[in-house]
Amino acid sequence: MPAVVVVGLQWGDEGKGKIVDFISEKADLAVRYQGGANAGHTVVLNGRTYRFHHLPVAALRGKHVCLASGMVIDPVKLIEELESLSREGIRPRLTIDGRAHIVLDIHKLLDEAEESSGKGVGTTKRGIGPAYTYKCARVGVRFSDLADTESIKPRLKKAIDMARALLSGVYNMDAELDVERVTQFLHEVTSRLGGYIGDVSLLVNETLDRGGFVILEGAQGTLLDIDHGTYPFVTSSNTTAGAACNSVGIGPKRVDEVIGVAKAYATRVGKGPFPTEMEEPVASTVRERGREYGTTTGRPRRVGWFDAVAVRYSIMLNGVTSVALTKADCLAGIDPVKVCLAYELDGQEIKSFPSSPYVLERCKPVYAELDGWEALSREEKLAALKGNFDALPKQLREYVDFLESLLACPIKYLSIGAERQETVIR
Ligand code: GDP
Ligand code: IMO
Ligand code: MG
Repeated sequence: MPAVVVVGLQWGDEGKGKIVDFISEKADLAVRYQGGANAGHTVVLNGRTYRFHHLPVAALRGKHVCLASGMVIDPVKLIEELESLSREGIRPRLTIDGRAHIVLDIHKLLDEAEESSGKGVGTTKRGIGPAYTYKCARVGVRFSDLADTESIKPRLKKAIDMARALLSGVYNMDAELDVERVTQFLHEVTSRLGGYIGDVSLLVNETLDRGGFVILEGAQGTLLDIDHGTYPFVTSSNTTAGAACNSVGIGPKRVDEVIGVAKAYATRVGKGPFPTEMEEPVASTVRERGREYGTTTGRPRRVGWFDAVAVRYSIMLNGVTSVALTKADCLAGIDPVKVCLAYELDGQEIKSFPSSPYVLERCKPVYAELDGWEALSREEKLAALKGNFDALPKQLREYVDFLESLLACPIKYLSIGAERQETVIR
């Protein structure tokens, strides 16, 4: 059995949670590989909505779930998440890699200060950027440090001095910060989460050696990747499939399959270029149909047409082996439906994704217009879910075929509703 990476191909919220849940029935292990509480992955099961911020969604199926070393974990939010699942009677086996970093209050303060300054990129304010900054500056705190908080006191002191200097020097803010308070917090984290700390890399490698099935769940999307995304309007981690190997601690040859998740349209939360952003009133119609409001922050998501230039770029970066196309049902009644085939830049047509967000900002989409489809009837949906793809409206099938030919990658899964079973395997 394989290791499968599930990665978003747009700017996040593609429906990764829904697809991971769908494929995870036979998983032996499920791992989140990067990011932290900035993610919001939703699973709808029998009319109930479950939201995950750190935990892999396979927790819902009672699977052994892991948080990999590439993550920055907010213990307060993680405990809330575990408690909320526990109230539903779900108490998953959990392993947190000792190498994963801990998001501290200073990180959240810094993130909020930057956003309040009006110069931020529109983050989730979950302290993600500062936590990764501290990690790279070698002043972060890892779960394995909890075993010896005395030894890390000099590092903690430096971390706090840096936060104080930034808050007062850059943001003109005073904050009461002291090492003792952070140490006390770390002791609380030890008592609540200490028992979950382990070696995720070893677990994953051993599970794969035994022939087990491991799902590596990405967060955010490829176009928010710190290197390959629309920098600086990105998150602070590598979100791509390649990063899964590094963040989990497995060799690149261990990944057998990369499922890229894309919406039948596009959304983006926060600032940054978005060439196919829709005009009103169609933007609001799609936003309402797709309930495009952030799972983590509740912010209305910006809505755009499917951008095949961007998604092709993401497929290339991730080595995607199959695509899962979600939310096609949310475009029902929209006519025509547009798809961006190329960009026009300074009078020339280009089909590559520019490295500069300022160049991308100047790109005008070149659209194809396709016939729209009506809302699926119950019969059409049921027949399609039983495997009869031809039962779906002709225009919707043509839309999927058209995207497949543009992307040059098989669209293996078609999601036509939020519920777990509303997924057609083509
Ligand atoms: P993620 O961050 O990629 O896991 O995506 P989110 O969970 O943030 O956002 C996707 C939203 O769309 C969630 O509310 C899902 O329940 C919902 N969803 C996923 N797939 C479908 C679909 O095919 N149709 C509809 N109507 N909703 C979907
Ligand atoms: P999931 O996993 C959509 C966006 C923020 C902001 C930028 C940086 O649910 O797809 P950050 O808090 O990470 O420093 O914010 O990234 N962003 C997301 N957008 N879905 C997400 O996660 C996101 N996580 C971060 O809106 O533009
Ligand atoms: Mg989300």
